[in-house]
Amino acid sequence: MTKKDKPNSNAMFKRAVENMPLGVADSYRYWGEDNTVFLSGMKGCTITDCDKQTFVDFRLAYGPIILGYRDERIDNEVIKAITDVGTISGFSTGLDSDVVELVKSLCPNIDKMRFSNSGTEAVIGAVRTARGFTQRNKIVVVEGGFHGLHDEVMWKSDVDNWDVNTQQVPDIVPFGGGIPQSTREHQVSVPLNDFDAIDAVFAEHGNDIAAILIEPIMGNCGSIASTQAYMQKLRDVCDSNGSLLIMDEVKTGFRVAKGGAQALYGIFADLTTYAKAMGNGYPVAAFGGRAEVMDTISFAKNGVTHGGTYTANMVALSAAKATLTVLKETDALDSIASVGLKIQALLSRVFTKFGVEHCFAGPDAMFGVHFGNKVPQNYRDWKQTNSDLYTQFALNLIDNGVMLEPDSREPWFICEAHQTVDLNWLEQVAEQSMQAAIDEK
Ligand SMILES: Cc1ncc(COP(=O)(O)O)c(C=O)c1O
Repeated sequence: MTKKDKPNSNAMFKRAVENMPLGVADSYRYWGEDNTVFLSGMKGCTITDCDKQTFVDFRLAYGPIILGYRDERIDNEVIKAITDVGTISGFSTGLDSDVVELVKSLCPNIDKMRFSNSGTEAVIGAVRTARGFTQRNKIVVVEGGFHGLHDEVMWKSDVDNWDVNTQQVPDIVPFGGGIPQSTREHQVSVPLNDFDAIDAVFAEHGNDIAAILIEPIMGNCGSIASTQAYMQKLRDVCDSNGSLLIMDEVKTGFRVAKGGAQALYGIFADLTTYAKAMGNGYPVAAFGGRAEVMDTISFAKNGVTHGGTYTANMVALSAAKATLTVLKETDALDSIASVGLKIQALLSRVFTKFGVEHCFAGPDAMFGVHFGNKVPQNYRDWKQTNSDLYTQFALNLIDNGVMLEPDSREPWFICEAHQTVDLNWLEQVAEQSMQAAIDEK
């Protein structure tokens, strides 16, 4: 049986499609009738599908797995918390502050924090707090950034259908149906690393700009990163305009450095969102920042409301406490970066062997692979890369037992357990996959 034969998975899909739209619980899990993946297990850096085929996984659930699947250092703490204490009560325990204090010890940008259950909710909370604090409405976002599935940020730059040769800017379109046009009203988009565009937006809308919302390293756009100078520009323009800088570190937080992307830049946000790596796969998220801003969350007349039934439940908090403790006290992130670097080196050897122009974007724990001669500076540049060749290469890798998203906008995620991967095997598989991609052209 090859990785292409999936009798059990195909049977599961037939059942699932009777029960869920597209046969999946999240639309992005739908990979077509024959290729939608159904798993029977996960461990370390591998996943096993229902047909007993095991893959080394560089997708890692879109980023949360930072140590490895079913890491006992985390799982045991979660089991202990829910068996010794419980799950939720609608009241607090000391675990809330334990986690916040851990975050504060890693991230100097955080004075106070609030929890949520997903990155989406964390962004909603941060944006509402920014608006409450500034008493303004508009949010500036960056083309190619992703901030979750809530209507207001579900408007994207339609680079897929954009002609690179035109002088026109790409259209801004909704992610699909059900998103009212009115939710577009308070959002303005700019291309990353474009100083003139940010000046123009502040010149036109400055008085009403509550915040710039940015992924400093676009984990949803091939890890294309803000330059140091652009990040400083954003900090300065926010300061001079009374607007807030919100860094969405849902993917980069506790992954690219203990203090997230902000530790790499040495430039700090007023508000930051965290999720994914914070809980090694358990559903925990948070937003936080300067005390003065966070204290807008209050019962004062214009105070911001935040909360939710499952917020800061014991599963989430115990997972976060255990994960952050490991990340703080061990050299896990160094090991992750070192494996990431070795993998880029082996991929580079393979691409060079086949004469494929390539470059890597972003940090070693979460790197983007782009087929082109220069690192894209923004989403529009990405369109100039040979993403079709990448997709074919990635699909071939999947057939050979390496799981990743077949879209170069999704980076390669590395976890601590990837240290066990046989890199000679990976290089061989990458070579076969690239050979086949070129033959298939
Ligand atoms: C930068 C960023 N923000 C927000 C989100 C939304 O997070 P969630 O899927 O947990 O709602 C994501 C998800 O990938 C993300 O990458």
